[in-house]
Amino acid sequence: MTTGEMAPTVSGLPASLRGTLPGRYYTDPTIFAAEQALIFETHWFCAVLAADIPAPGAFETVQVARESVIIARGRDGAVHAYLNVCRHRGARLCTEEKGAVRRSFQCPYHAWTYSLDGKLIAAPNIGDMPDVDRVEFGLNRVHVREWLGYVWLCLADEPPSFEDTVIADVGERLGSPDAIVGYQVADLKLGRRISYDVAANWKQIVENFMECYHCATIHPELTEVLPEFAEGLASQYFVGHGAAFGDDVAGFTVDGSEGLDRIPGIAEDQDRRYYAITVRPQVFINLVPDHVVFHRMFPLSPTRTLVRCDWLYLPEVVDAGADIERSVELFHRVNQQDFAACERCQVAMDSRAYARGGVLVPSEHHIGEFHDWVQKKID
Ligand code: FES
Ligand code: FE
Repeated sequence: MTTGEMAPTVSGLPASLRGTLPGRYYTDPTIFAAEQALIFETHWFCAVLAADIPAPGAFETVQVARESVIIARGRDGAVHAYLNVCRHRGARLCTEEKGAVRRSFQCPYHAWTYSLDGKLIAAPNIGDMPDVDRVEFGLNRVHVREWLGYVWLCLADEPPSFEDTVIADVGERLGSPDAIVGYQVADLKLGRRISYDVAANWKQIVENFMECYHCATIHPELTEVLPEFAEGLASQYFVGHGAAFGDDVAGFTVDGSEGLDRIPGIAEDQDRRYYAITVRPQVFINLVPDHVVFHRMFPLSPTRTLVRCDWLYLPEVVDAGADIERSVELFHRVNQQDFAACERCQVAMDSRAYARGGVLVPSEHHIGEFHDWVQKKID
């Protein structure tokens, strides 16, 4: 098949319902390859927390679709990113996930050496590199932006405008580009990180995150804190809607008990409310008055996705060693409940029962827009 074929969906649906993507969209390596090339290698991709590479020489390596990328802080304090491939004979330059070098990366094969901004600075025994252009033979650079305290990459030669895609996406979903500003996300500090290795296609995870039809069934703690979620309409069903905390709920915690210090910049109408947004293609952000839960997805195969979830708080909360357990526990449980549901669907995607897909009920119809977006990208 080609990915360009229109997906045959279930027939005979009344106008109030619409079809989903057929099952093969969640298992077919051809479709996954198209998504890697046409979505993850062309869009901005949220790669690392900038504070995780704090000083010159600190680096992380990240898999972005088919490419391994080194993200390093240069001597000038700026973040640089380049493909993790030696320009001499193509050796993988760095095999560590993270670490720190003094001032350069040296290839373990023939010792070509690159500065922290990716220039070639030494190539032993070729006569002091008389004719080798150090920039031309430097590492292949990857476009970098820092926003919300994270390093975003784009592998495209000509990246789309960050403002018109990522920032506009957030503004559109929150109802205003300024709505996220008061949360001061870039100034918050990591309180906890949990990584989830999920046996499901990345689109299962996006779709699940977008809807709340499942909330009453699988999220008992979340619906206690946000009673309107029991009705099945997610924050993302509406534009700019924050779900209100229950009247007797003190904070966004696993038992509704009091949370931590409120982020001072948030607006009055953002207090005691929960906002959830998806930033295509691989970020979910949850905003509550005292913390931000920031998910990055790393699709590893058609049937496997790594999700890194960061809980971010005011620096003084983290530095004081405040008890963040009850707030972490709430969304950790939500994540576990959600990812178990995604895995439960994933195992059935190859069944003949789902060859033509399933059904989106009205409260899930906005997922159809995501399906249209994916299909348009890979066609
Ligand atoms: Fe890297 Fe030869 S492959 S120096
Ligand atoms: Fe959920």
